[in-house]
Amino acid sequence: EPEQDEFQIGFVQAMTTDNWRKEMNRAMEVEASMHPGYKLHIKDAQNDVSRQIKQIEEFISTEVDVLIVSPIQSVPITPVIEKAMNAGIPTIVIDRKIEGSNYTAYVGANNVEIGKNAANYIVSNSKPNQNLELIEITGLQTSSPAFERSQGFNEVVTNQENVDIVASIAGDWEKTSVGDNLKSILDSVGSIDYIFAHNDRMAMGAWEVARSKNLEDSIQIIGVDGLFGPSGGIQLVKEDVLAATVLYPTGGAEAIKLAVKLLEGDQIDKNNILSTVVIDKVNVEIMQNQFNKMNQQQNDIEQQQRIITEQVATYNSQFNLLKIMVGL
Ligand code: FRU
Repeated sequence: EPEQDEFQIGFVQAMTTDNWRKEMNRAMEVEASMHPGYKLHIKDAQNDVSRQIKQIEEFISTEVDVLIVSPIQSVPITPVIEKAMNAGIPTIVIDRKIEGSNYTAYVGANNVEIGKNAANYIVSNSKPNQNLELIEITGLQTSSPAFERSQGFNEVVTNQENVDIVASIAGDWEKTSVGDNLKSILDSVGSIDYIFAHNDRMAMGAWEVARSKNLEDSIQIIGVDGLFGPSGGIQLVKEDVLAATVLYPTGGAEAIKLAVKLLEGDQIDKNNILSTVVIDKVNVEIMQNQFNKMNQQQNDIEQQQRIITEQVATYNSQFNLLKIMVGL
């Protein structure tokens, strides 16, 4: 039986093909399961803007208590979020932004800072006055992290006389957007010192191209995300595929915490900025250990949740049997 005073949280995820988004969903589910009386519903827009708009509209019409959205693109998702706000549904935007400020709260890391961190890493790991030739591979241009990572990166590089971005490749967050473009650029330019890719998946794509040209030892590659797990950025740093990755936390748990606070009537901040850090050879072990511990704790929680659910089910069926036996 559903609890009477259950709160409905509706989340529209941009897509779930990659591990970063899977991890965001998982973090949300774990956090939501720790708040009895709050039910999380996740819809997957499958990287299709019109589907995402439709799914947000569905949550508006079922009158969820809080809406959470990770927009695929900024501009086309803005009006429907306005619609949710006008319908009185508090809306939390996570990771990618919308235009303007008609939303209840935003949660995510500072992507300008991420771009700056990547550039500063390159500068500080090079000899003073050493000439550096860089290539930038951007995420999908119409999503805010791509714009902001680029902005931060370029801001730092512009101030360095001896550092040049010789090419910028317009990627789309996926590895497949890197290959041919990077190949032809590497054929036409001189030696490249660093590639900054806006996420680890594209960074991996860049490494594969570099390796196919026997350049994997001379080109240092930096990515973003720093996911834990077998093919995540942390592992890639450990394996020397990437020189570094800039951690981009998913914010899944934080978004649910904000939703719960809102529904409990607590005051929340409009901008909830998550911290980030450069992960390289120096701190990769520490980071991995921390993630291992966190992961273990999450697994324990999930295990306990399963046991509780089983016990409740057993109790209910025994109780029903008892009711029949005593003729209730
Ligand atoms: C996941 C992802 C991440 C990236 C983020 C930006 O879908 O592509 O790799 O950091 O989205 O919104």
